[in-house]
Amino acid sequence: MDPKPKGWRLVKIEGVPLTEETAKNWNEIKDFQARPDDVLICTFPKSGTAWIQEIVEMILHGGDSQKCDLLPNYERSPFLELFLPKPFLLGVKAEEMPSPRILKTHLPAKLLPPSFWKQNCKIIYLARNIKDNAVSSFCFRRMNQLAPDPGDWNNFLENFIAGEWTYGSWFDHVCGWWEAKDHYPILYLFYEDLKENPAQEIGKVARFLGVELPELVLSQIVEHTAFKSMKVNPMTNFSTMPSSILDHTVSSYMRKGTVGDWKEHLTVAQSERIDDICAQKLRDSGLIFRTQL
Ligand code: A3P
Repeated sequence: MDPKPKGWRLVKIEGVPLTEETAKNWNEIKDFQARPDDVLICTFPKSGTAWIQEIVEMILHGGDSQKCDLLPNYERSPFLELFLPKPFLLGVKAEEMPSPRILKTHLPAKLLPPSFWKQNCKIIYLARNIKDNAVSSFCFRRMNQLAPDPGDWNNFLENFIAGEWTYGSWFDHVCGWWEAKDHYPILYLFYEDLKENPAQEIGKVARFLGVELPELVLSQIVEHTAFKSMKVNPMTNFSTMPSSILDHTVSSYMRKGTVGDWKEHLTVAQSERIDDICAQKLRDSGLIFRTQL
């Protein structure tokens, strides 16, 4: 059995709380050398990162699921700023990967290694409404043995809203990338749209990547990346990770995959308070999130 690692502390970089392992390696991360044909997937954690990763992989492999099924997703598209403590050497090193690379990050736009901007890389940002995002984060923090203990739900929610959690403020994250999309090749997508009309949104991703998808291939990608398929696929459901990192007996990684699960967890008062904060903090951005379909 693997030894159980200690939960990470959070350390602020430019005001954003990151795990201590990321903070320790910050100079190396900041100097990461992007290549012009890199595709970067960016999300606030628990916004559907694994989903959009699988979609992008399937598109770039022309819908060939066998190519995606060769390795677990975390081995196929490296997580830029994740440095696992020894002996947890999972994943590939991005530097060693051949092009074209699909990379993943949760960094806010202001902390993105500058070479991505210089190389004008294609970036796909997937955003999810804060209520479902908070619930998913809470459940994930409980199963993630490396993350700090989230404590009880009410305290967690307060910290989450205040941005006192890994990657900082959800508001700053979604707004920072929303602003960046006016200056760089960024496709900004919403989890709720992807859930409502996967074929349409996958079509947008394919066009953004310059790939033409025949109808049949598009429907194969919709099928392969549907929640019910990804939940039972060991290459996408993180069941291959050691339980000392992700403990699936506490919660699944592929937990519910819905819009509106927050209704099972938030009180009316909590929900209304978040609505008020969203109205204030998102007002000038023009960003609109749906919390139900
Ligand atoms: P829930 O916890 O609400 O179920 P990330 O990959 O960024 O960590 O996000 C994980 C969340 O995305 C989980 O949300 C997970 O169930 C959901 N998700 C993953 N794949 C999905 C899919 N194919 N369809 C819908 N939701 C998906």
